[in-house]
Amino acid sequence: MSDQPELSPPSAVPPQQPEAGLMVEVLHTYTEDDLQALCEATDAAIIDGGGFGWVEPPGRRALETYFKGVLLVPERELFVARLEGTIVGCAQLVRPPRNNEAQAFAASVMHAFVAPYARGRGLGRLLFRRVEEGARALGYYVLNLDVRETQTWAIRLYESLGYVRWGEHPCYARVTGQTVRGLFYYKQLRPRPRKTPL
Ligand SMILES: CC(C)(COP(=O)(O)OP(=O)(O)OC[C@H]1O[C@@H](n2cnc3c(N)ncnc32)[C@H](O)[C@@H]1OP(=O)(O)O)[C@@H](O)C(=O)NCCC(=O)NCCS
Repeated sequence: MSDQPELSPPSAVPPQQPEAGLMVEVLHTYTEDDLQALCEATDAAIIDGGGFGWVEPPGRRALETYFKGVLLVPERELFVARLEGTIVGCAQLVRPPRNNEAQAFAASVMHAFVAPYARGRGLGRLLFRRVEEGARALGYYVLNLDVRETQTWAIRLYESLGYVRWGEHPCYARVTGQTVRGLFYYKQLRPRPRKTPL
């Protein structure tokens, strides 16, 4: 473990009561309404400038197929954000593959977004808190994520939640003909145990 950077203690974030009407949960099956709301939120987020890998909305059928597939991947947990009961955003907690013993202590958050029509109410913050709680409950010590440098609100949110920027990728993404840098972050979820394997 000597080649690993020393991780700082986890930031102490006081628990906050979410605003009424905001909810985040892990989804295991879809109702038709949930699937359509999720696709609609994703379309809106992509059109607004993403954060998701898509640059253009891929079409409803492709989105439905994609989200149905997410629930089938054993290493993924789909966290959905609801506003007054309707899904308006999501994030995926991605566990390392079983062969990756060296990084078995670390999970990733991917494809997080809240639809533009539901932003600024605290759902993004709540979504990340729930993902972190889920990762802790699964025994992970570290959460990793990366983001385009153009996602200003996401970057602010991550840094306010205690994510530490450790690197940049100069050729991270291509969006409307422009190369965009990527920023890489980690957060230590709990102290690393001493003299015991992770
Ligand atoms: C990042 C994102 C998930 C935040 O979602 P959200 O529901 O607006 O988040 P919150 O309401 O919890 O706000 C988080 C913080 O950002 C601030 N904020 C968010 N949007 C804002 C806006 N349009 N204007 C001013 N402040 C804003 C809030 O004030 C809040 O800070 P605070 O908790 O200290 O007050 C959302 O902006 C988003 O989906 N962006 C596009 C996709 C993306 O960048 N994804 C991440 C990369 S994969």
